Amino acid sequence: MRFPDSFLWGAATSAYQIEGGREEGKGTSIWDTFAHTPGKTYLGQTGDSACDHYHRFAEDVELMARLGIDVYRFSIAWSRVLPEGIGAANPNGLGFYDRLVDDLVAHRIQPWVTIFHWDLPQSLQDQGGWANRETVAAFAEFTRLLGDTLADRVFNWITINEPWVAAFLGHYEGIHAPGVTEFDTALVAAHNLLLSHGKAATTLRERNPDARVGIALDCRPSQPASDSLEDREAQRHFDGFRNRWFFDPVFGRGYPADMLEDYRKADRSLDFIREGDLESMAPPIDFLGVNYYTSLAVGAGREESEEPVVAPGPNPPEGFTEMGWEITPEALPRYLWELYERYHPSQIIVTENGASYSDGPDANGVVNDQRRIDYLHRHVEALAQAIDDGLPVGGYFCWSLLDNFEWGHGFSQRFGLVWVDFETQTRIPKASFEWYRRTIKASR
Ligand code: FCB
Repeated sequence: MRFPDSFLWGAATSAYQIEGGREEGKGTSIWDTFAHTPGKTYLGQTGDSACDHYHRFAEDVELMARLGIDVYRFSIAWSRVLPEGIGAANPNGLGFYDRLVDDLVAHRIQPWVTIFHWDLPQSLQDQGGWANRETVAAFAEFTRLLGDTLADRVFNWITINEPWVAAFLGHYEGIHAPGVTEFDTALVAAHNLLLSHGKAATTLRERNPDARVGIALDCRPSQPASDSLEDREAQRHFDGFRNRWFFDPVFGRGYPADMLEDYRKADRSLDFIREGDLESMAPPIDFLGVNYYTSLAVGAGREESEEPVVAPGPNPPEGFTEMGWEITPEALPRYLWELYERYHPSQIIVTENGASYSDGPDANGVVNDQRRIDYLHRHVEALAQAIDDGLPVGGYFCWSLLDNFEWGHGFSQRFGLVWVDFETQTRIPKASFEWYRRTIKASR
């Protein structure tokens, strides 16, 4: 596999999934509330202590250095920095990220900061959260504060992680915080998330001319389940709902016309779209972050639903990970080319890719996660080919550095290169860690 010298190898995490540390002035986030609501997560598990990264970040940065990554993507817990979402900052919270960034830089690892990875402060939710347009201004303020504190050492910023998930799993399916189940509210939330992306990008750039800004969009490439008119129509709608509703506005095309038409026919209110909104969602970005895990076939009746098609479990059928996601590495370059041709981003970064398998330590304490190695290898290889063919992909972040709190799945889904015992907080690098270390080294 050949990679350009400038190619960036990384690993990614997010605050609520790893930090724990609900102390020293941290406020409550919607994920604290949601996870503590009975019946919302696997076995009622919460991120209260997660990987205890808040206390063990130095050990984790050591692991990253051993891995040899160039870049580390993590998110900032808004409620740690601004306990009420707006207003007075918590110096302990800012201090934590300040030390983390310093430690990364000291280890020659570039910090890539995700400003929002789903853990909205509960106080903002109490005012309506993403369904309230005022959250956009609060997010811009939060961004300004982060820029003022960290932009002297952080040069790469991801405004929002996966707005589709935050909007639709959080406000329509209700399987993520805040657990609302109204489609119309989800559409408003999506709109305010997209506005927030635009505002944050503009705010950062104004104050920090060196900042490079992007967004991490989840993509679900799809094809029709059959050639029938119904399935093709379902796939068009699914793609619009899941992908184009976000990609199009970020790249200045506004909302897709076919989707606006579908929503009008379905009597959805689109009054939340105000004059000037579509422009403010689309400031130029320096890179497009793409989170890629799987692709799927869409049949009629499934055009507005989330997977899994297959029930997840520790013994998935071959060709699926334990999330029940089909392994489709060939769709990654295919889709990235499509995005490139449609939107012409100046650079693409794979901001997440990885696999859930629960393999744990054997009698000798060795975690032989061969299936994860296969998954990662096939995706990285597909990427190498695309780059060779001329696609401007500048980096790859493996999800995830550590096994962690996988949202509604609690600790039952493990994505890490490092195995974590959530009782003792012991970390054991898996075989995939060694594979990734060698892959990075060999590519230099
Ligand atoms: C993505 C999320 C990330 C993690 C992975 C498995 O959708 O951004 O936090 O949950 O999926």
